[in-house]
Amino acid sequence: MALPFLKRAKTPIHQRIQSDDATRLRLKYDTYYHIFEKQEGTRVWKEGREFIMLSSNDYLGLTHHPKVKEAGQRAIQEWGASTTGARLANGGRIFHRELEEELAAFVGKEACHVFSAGYLACASAVTGFADRKDILFADKNLHSSLLSGIKLSGARCERFAHNNPLHLRELLSYEEKNDAKIFVLEGVYSMEGHIAKLPDFVELAKEHRAFVVVDDAHGFGVLGSEGRGVCDHFGLTDEVDVICASFSKSLAGSGGFVASNQDAIDYMRSHSKQTIFSAALTPSACATAKEALRVLQSEPEHRERLFKNLERYRSILNELELDTWESETPAIPIVLGEKEKVYYFWKALLEKGIYTIISIAPGVPPGKDLIRTAISASHTDQDLDRIEEAMHYAKSKI
Ligand SMILES: Cc1ncc(COP(=O)(O)O)c(C=O)c1O
Repeated sequence: MALPFLKRAKTPIHQRIQSDDATRLRLKYDTYYHIFEKQEGTRVWKEGREFIMLSSNDYLGLTHHPKVKEAGQRAIQEWGASTTGARLANGGRIFHRELEEELAAFVGKEACHVFSAGYLACASAVTGFADRKDILFADKNLHSSLLSGIKLSGARCERFAHNNPLHLRELLSYEEKNDAKIFVLEGVYSMEGHIAKLPDFVELAKEHRAFVVVDDAHGFGVLGSEGRGVCDHFGLTDEVDVICASFSKSLAGSGGFVASNQDAIDYMRSHSKQTIFSAALTPSACATAKEALRVLQSEPEHRERLFKNLERYRSILNELELDTWESETPAIPIVLGEKEKVYYFWKALLEKGIYTIISIAPGVPPGKDLIRTAISASHTDQDLDRIEEAMHYAKSKI
């Protein structure tokens, strides 16, 4: 046993860890990092109690699709659990190339690179191209993966008001005409459900010779023909230089991709540290993404069901006059504006067996504290009945 006077003194880092308010409050209110012991369709179970999941991003409900599950099992049998190394060093496998070719063709680009997380893909979509001397123009409400990419690039970043091309135009007017510029946008903003005003941003990019990066994590699989994403939705695929997205939404897997012209993908493979130094996507993750991509194209009924569910869900929220921040997509926030209201609303939904996520400032702009919900193709009519009843109850509690 260590003698008391030989005990290691607390470092400033230990003190910071032990006095952190954010962690103390999170643990006290038990709002995040829940563990479920079982999942089936839209249902999850915690301590034996069943909940309807109303915040996952399984938009097309493919998590339990038999073909997708089978593809993952087959890949493990054939290739094992992992390729245990970065592709630059240990090489990719034929299944990486096949998925990249299928994804590139689907989104309408020449080439693609797949990553083991959407976060890595989206960070690389910035670090792979931005140089310290460039100027980045980023929406104020960008996802953390893109913000990390921006920070790591070392380039100066100007933030424009959310989805506001007029503000971007003003910021551009202060800059030198010939400096290299990159716009960083999301196709569908994940918290708000807003679709980017891509036609206006593309117009500005043309005027200012800017390179355009779009993170379409929440548009891919949902918008455009067959779910090709936001660029296809607006017919602007050729005008956007880089499209990145995650597999953890419509493709019901994990991983992500960056798609662009062949020379841009080759350039990214030389310059993005997240591409060079991170291990390759596993065989099973690659196989499930590839199969989900095929299902997406061959079984349109999943998207049809998603939009049918979305219509009913929206009408439930509208009838209750809940503020959905003008969401246009299956990612729908319920804005309550104060963290206390958000907490009681969330608790009331939980009481009724509906699982959602709280998002409060600084995660969202001040005054926009919200419950983040997302509808899926796999929600049944009975699920929607239960959701409707729970929403009425939660509304009565605030
Ligand atoms: C807009 C956006 N980009 C990137 C990511 C990262 O994807 P993943 O969670 O698959 O790593 C997410 C996921 O939350 C996202 O919402």
